[in-house]
Amino acid sequence: MPAIPDPTPSARQGTFELCGVSLRGPVLNGSGTFDAIAARRAFGDALLERFPFDAFVSKTITLEPRQGNAPPRLWETPAGMINSIGLPNKGLDGFLATDLPELAQLPVPLVVSVMGLGRDELARLVGAVGERDEVSMLELNVSCPNVETGLIMGADPAETALALERVRPETAKPLIVKLTPNATDPGAVAAAAESAGADAVSLVNTLKGMALHPETGEPWLGGRTGGLSGPAIRAIALEQVAAVASRVEIPVIGMGGIASGRHAADFMAAGASAVAVGTESFRDPAAGRRIATELAELSLPGRRGATPSRGV
Ligand code: SIN
Repeated sequence: MPAIPDPTPSARQGTFELCGVSLRGPVLNGSGTFDAIAARRAFGDALLERFPFDAFVSKTITLEPRQGNAPPRLWETPAGMINSIGLPNKGLDGFLATDLPELAQLPVPLVVSVMGLGRDELARLVGAVGERDEVSMLELNVSCPNVETGLIMGADPAETALALERVRPETAKPLIVKLTPNATDPGAVAAAAESAGADAVSLVNTLKGMALHPETGEPWLGGRTGGLSGPAIRAIALEQVAAVASRVEIPVIGMGGIASGRHAADFMAAGASAVAVGTESFRDPAAGRRIATELAELSLPGRRGATPSRGV
């Protein structure tokens, strides 16, 4: 792992706010793209001293433990990757007992990502996670392409609103809704989420994709299809962030192939209040801090005022 650079001075001061939660800056991780517990084991307290993100979003948890999809689970594309992970996790009880105490030691606010196989299950998760002091915000993953029910909920504005209405009374903590790019009108889904009580939206999750075994022509991934992420989807993500930001007043967390401060600035110019780094962390686990530093050096004049990049 390359050395993680020191946070910028402005980042140390904690000058940024997201849904009323004070952060040192606007760069989060995409859920499931950085294993902070494994990284702590590998790098010890150095990870805490130079943590790559300004808030940490956990891997999505479900009520019951899940094994995830059969291998292979990853396929590298020329400008990204397709994953078919299938949300393996310890389930709510396992997460609370084992992972939460470790994640609570991170030096940044914790966002816990949850997915329910139905509205009642989602509500139980939100209630149980939301009451924990260690948790600052929750992200509702209604967009995983590798688990049927998740995507169905988030692809439809009415379904998304029903889910929000069901879970909103369960917690006073900020609820971020993670949107899918695999929807006819992500702006309509975002607007429905906002009307039903969401505090922020994050987008994009991965685009549905497929890879074939070079010799057999059969699907390569154990789950047959997967979700494409990385630079390959950045232009699509940018357009969707702009479209969503024009439809809602709540903060938009933009992601999709961000690999530099300039890319992050583009998402903010398109209307994002904060950004998340995902696939780039697989290549460079310190990418979050590098991108935050590059972004700070661009000295952005305002939320929508950054100069656009030239496609680097
Ligand atoms: C997965 O575990 O399959 C990826 C998570 C997601 O796409 O939401």
